[in-house]
Order: sequence, then C-alpha cells, then structure tokens
Amino acid sequence: MTGKMYNEITLDLPLQEPDRQYYYMEKCRRHVHELEKEKGHALTFFVRTFGCQMNARDSEKLRGILLQAGLKECENEEADFVLYNTCTVRDNANQKVYGHLGYLQTLKKKNPAMKIALCGCMMQEPLVVERIKKSYCFVDLVFGTHNIYKLAELLYCCLTEKKMVVDVWDSAKAVVEDLPAVRKYPFKSGVNIMYGCNNFCSYCIVPYVRGRERSRDLEDILSEIRRLASGGVKEVMLLGQNVNSYGKTLAKPVSFAELLYQVNAVEGIERIRFMTSHPKDLSDGLIAAMRDCKKVCHHLHLPLQSGSSRILKVMNRCYTKEQYLDLVERIRAAIPDISLTTDIIVGFPGETKEDFEETLDVVQKVRFDSAFTFLYSKRAKTAAAEMENQVPEAVAKERFDRLLREVQQIASEVCGRDVNTVQPVLVECENDHQAGYVSGRLGNNLLVHFPGDASLVGQIVPVRLTNAKGFYYIGKSEKETEDGR
Ligand code: SAH
Ligand code: SF4
Ligand code: F3S
Repeated sequence: MTGKMYNEITLDLPLQEPDRQYYYMEKCRRHVHELEKEKGHALTFFVRTFGCQMNARDSEKLRGILLQAGLKECENEEADFVLYNTCTVRDNANQKVYGHLGYLQTLKKKNPAMKIALCGCMMQEPLVVERIKKSYCFVDLVFGTHNIYKLAELLYCCLTEKKMVVDVWDSAKAVVEDLPAVRKYPFKSGVNIMYGCNNFCSYCIVPYVRGRERSRDLEDILSEIRRLASGGVKEVMLLGQNVNSYGKTLAKPVSFAELLYQVNAVEGIERIRFMTSHPKDLSDGLIAAMRDCKKVCHHLHLPLQSGSSRILKVMNRCYTKEQYLDLVERIRAAIPDISLTTDIIVGFPGETKEDFEETLDVVQKVRFDSAFTFLYSKRAKTAAAEMENQVPEAVAKERFDRLLREVQQIASEVCGRDVNTVQPVLVECENDHQAGYVSGRLGNNLLVHFPGDASLVGQIVPVRLTNAKGFYYIGKSEKETEDGR
C-alpha cells in the first residue's frame, strides 16, 4: 500500500486534492472505529470488478482507499460495505450487475446496516442512474468513472446519511493521483498511462463513459514505475484504450515507443506488457521498440473487430483488411515469435455473409494465439445504434458459433508451438487443484503449471514446457534439474 496517513484531523477541511481525501480517510477511520465499538466486530468491505483491465486497476485504487478508511477486506458480498465497479461495454455486462443487485438486496435484508455502492462505466449512463433511483432504492451510493478518487469523501457521506448519495460527473475535472492502492499480486501491477478514448468506433460506448483521451506525463509514469520496482514489482502492464496514441496531445509530445524505451531502462522491472493497441496507430517505431527492448513481452493484443474493409469503414476503425494483414506481416518479420491475440465483433449492423467470410479469412491467415469474440451489442448514443439493417440475432449467433469454433481450433494448434523449449515463467500462485504445483505465466501470457512450492511465487523461473494442453502448458522447472532435486 502507498500513500500517507493523517494522524490528526486538521481543523479546516483541506481544499486541495489529494489532501482533502486523506482528511476524509481519517474521518472515516474515526467513524468506523465508533461503529465497530457499537457492533462489537470489525467492519468489512468487498469490491467486485466487472469489465476490463482499466476497471481492475481502478478497483485496486478503490480498495486502497477503503483500507485506509479503516475497513477490513473480505472475500465475498457478505460484507458491511459492498462496492460494484461496473462495465457497460455490452448489454450483458449491465444485465450481470442487475442480476447481482437482486442478491445484494437479500443480503441487506439480513444485515440492514449494510451499505451498497455502485461505480464505474455503467453509472455514467443517465438512464441507468434513473433506473437505480427508481427500482433499486436499497442502493446507498452511486458514483462514476471521473471521481473514483473521491471515494473516501463519498463513503463518509454514505455512512452518515440515510438517503441515496449520487455523484456522477459528465467529464473529468482533474486527474488526482498519489492516493493509496493495493495490488492483487505484489510482483505485478497495472499502470495507467492514459485515460479515456477519442476514437469513437461507431459501436463503442467507452468514449462516452470514460471521456476524452488524456495522457499522463512521462515523468509521472516513470516515477510511479520506479516506485513500484523498488517495492518489488517485476512486471508492469501499461494501460490505455489506445496506447499507440500515447503522448500525442501532451504539451511536450512523446511517442509510445519512446515511453517503452524509458520503462525498459527502469531497474528492477523485468517484464513490460501493454493494452490495448489500435492497429491504425501502430508505428514502425513501436515495432522496433518491441523488438529492441528486452523486457517487452512478445505479445500483442491487436483488435481486428472485423475482416471486412467495408464494415471496418462503417465501424470507423480507420484501417482496411489489407492494411491489417500487412501490419501483421511487418510485426512478424521483426519479431518472429510474437504471440498475437485479438477482439472480433460478429453481427455488426449490415454485416453480410460475405463480410463475415472476410473475417474468417483474416482469422485463417493470421492464426491468432487467441481471440475474444463478441456478439454485437447495441449501445445507447453510439452511431451504430442508429443504423438500420441490424443483423437478426439468430444469424449473428450462428456466425458467432462458427467463428468461435474456428478461433478455438487454431488457438489449440498454435498454443503448442513452444512445447519442449525452456521459457521464463513468472510464478503467480500455488496451484489450487494440484498440491505441490505452482502456476505462472509465459511472456505471451499463457499459463504454465509445474511442480514447485510457495517459495517460487513472485519469481521468474526457467521452465521446460513438457506438455501442451490446448490453452496451457505443463512444465518442469529447469532450476530443479540443475540443483539435482
Ligand atoms: N480500446 C480497446 C477496446 C475496448 S472494449 C480497443 O480499441 O481495442 C473491448 C472490446 O469489446 C472491443 O475490442 C470490442 O471488440 C468489444 N466491444 C466494444 N463495444 C462492443 C459492442 N457494442 N458490442 C460488442 N462488442 C463490443
Ligand atoms: Fe472503443 Fe474504439 Fe476507443 Fe477501443 S478505440 S475504446 S473500441 S472507441
Ligand atoms: Fe467496460 Fe468501462 Fe472497460 S465499459 S470494457 S469497464 S472502460
């Protein structure tokens, strides 16, 4: 955990951030302490995250604040303060949250002092907030994506007020950093390098709920990474909706490739990953940086979305099928062992059988290591929601199944390519299912299970990949063999 503590509440409420939030963390701690004395037990919290890596990183910040506010973290919803960090990228993400809310209501009946809070992308939609206010009045706190740093202040409000507290902002007012955060793993961390998105792909709601693209200053990013490294972090994941356009709007413009070189030079960091790359902004300079920076993992998530140039145009993706294929060729020429993964949408408005065949064609030509496939979901405010000729559900579903079979077949063939080689594995945890085994990840993010004990967790170990199992490997530590154990 990082961040400072206020031992004494100053008499005046600080106006500057983040001081104001540290003041509220202290106020919460005192209040929580009183409540605990009354109840005779510790007050607990639970945060559930829906959605992408960006939300996962936000949840680490939210959990850091809650810990400093004096609450203890617990494993499930049977807590005194439950916070859902929501996603709205597809309608099923929203439906999941509504479904879970029913469960929270039953828990609240058993523990009426329980507080229920919702934040994140879904809360940026006015219709969602209306529905929560009207039909889910047992919810105590609602806030959005632009003010997560205010959680301590909002929590204090929520603990001391009876009515629902709602605080959702239309756009980001200030980027407030230097607040506490807790990580799931002590040895790896996400690092935001930019917020928001300016691309307005015609199907996508993210620019509406995350606001305009804002890059963080290079020096701020580097000092955060240096701090993480000195705290034992070995792997960083640089996060942004379109990392390839990083730095373009800064007062002193910097390229993403330049950022990679600089992160590569940070002592203690051993692996660098990033998410997500937009094909339209992937420069030759970046390909060279990936090739030359030893710590950058040879893994690239390069969302295709569709293989049809016609559909790509309507999606506003700004590349054609041919440009995508050419890009893949250039990347593979420079980095032959690159692992490529992708996102594909099926059933975008107006998608014909021929358009879909083009997508299959790209999948067969590129042979992705894995692909996330999604059924198109109509999102409010987006350009595609207004388009006529929405594809009938049954047709989209049939294409989806066909595509899924294809990507799975290819993935299972591609995944085995490193069998019998020795690869560095960052060990994440002891294996839940098999005693005496640990699990870790390769540079390309695939899982490897191999015999080992807890002392290996957080270490990078050379492992011989003995068996390919489709989507993971079984291996054997080479360290062990050397030691003769
Ligand atoms: N910024 C990233 C993607 C973020 S959203 C990028 O540009 O690649 C993650 C994925 O969700 C997208 O790549 C897309 O495949 C999918 N997605 C986004 N909106 C969608 C929608 N309306 N319906 C179905 N899938 C969608
Ligand atoms: Fe959405 Fe496109 Fe931005 Fe990705 S780049 S978040 S798909 S608008
Ligand atoms: Fe979902 Fe928001 Fe991420 S909509 S995909 S959690 S940016």
